[in-house]
Amino acid sequence: MRKISFMILVLVLIATITACGNVSEPTNSVSSDAEEITKASADASVAEENEKTQNASFLIAYFTMPEDVDTEGIDANSGASIVVEDGVIMENVEYIAAIIQQTIEGDLFQIETTKTYLLDHEPLVDQAAEEQEENARPELSTHIENIDQYDTIFLGYPNWWGDMPMAVYSFLEEYDLSGKTIIPFCPHGGSGFSGTVWEISNLQPNAQVSEDGLTISRNDVADAKDEIVAWVQNLGF
Ligand SMILES: Cc1cc2nc3c(=O)[nH]c(=O)nc-3n(C[C@H](O)[C@H](O)[C@H](O)COP(=O)(O)O)c2cc1C
Repeated sequence: MRKISFMILVLVLIATITACGNVSEPTNSVSSDAEEITKASADASVAEENEKTQNASFLIAYFTMPEDVDTEGIDANSGASIVVEDGVIMENVEYIAAIIQQTIEGDLFQIETTKTYLLDHEPLVDQAAEEQEENARPELSTHIENIDQYDTIFLGYPNWWGDMPMAVYSFLEEYDLSGKTIIPFCPHGGSGFSGTVWEISNLQPNAQVSEDGLTISRNDVADAKDEIVAWVQNLGF
């Protein structure tokens, strides 16, 4: 009888130990779940950080001047110097910059001046010619806080008198872009880039100025979305 009681006791003990073992399992699995969650959130924040770094490495800097254009009756079309898309009016350079940004997710930056420009076409043309003759450096009212975070700079400007607007000279002289890649883009009325790519290299001799920049006739900009996207994708980033 004592023997039987002892056996029962042993069996109860074994059952208890086994049960305890089972109880501890969920604890292990909770801790491994927690480890998984911690790892997943660490992975997510690394991915987020990478994404930020990736976004931050592209700067899309551009200069444009909104000429006074009668937009009445214009729909998804180019009024020479503007693009109207979904009711939003954009200058040609601004439009190309926006498509680049949508494609590659960089930071947009508009080069602006403290001085004002005349927005009617003819007076603006004269004003631009005057600035060029004077080799002026218009003072800029917008500045980039930390240029070092960017490896690649898309630089957009309209062709003005076969050259860049002088405000773009001011921009290129304000920063040291050594070691960075500069990719120009330029809508025009027939002159393409003129000598501007060389001019950029001259102002930033230690930057790599891409020969694969994009130049589009102002008459084609409104229909050039696919071309712009394909161009950005083919740059190999
Ligand atoms: C002051 C001025 C000068 C220009 N000079 C030229 C030129 O020499 N060659 C050319 O092809 N286009 C010239 N254009 C046309 C612009 O390059 C073209 O309209 C461009 O799309 C303007 O872009 P935006 O509207 O974004 O500023 C000139 C336009 C302006 C306002």
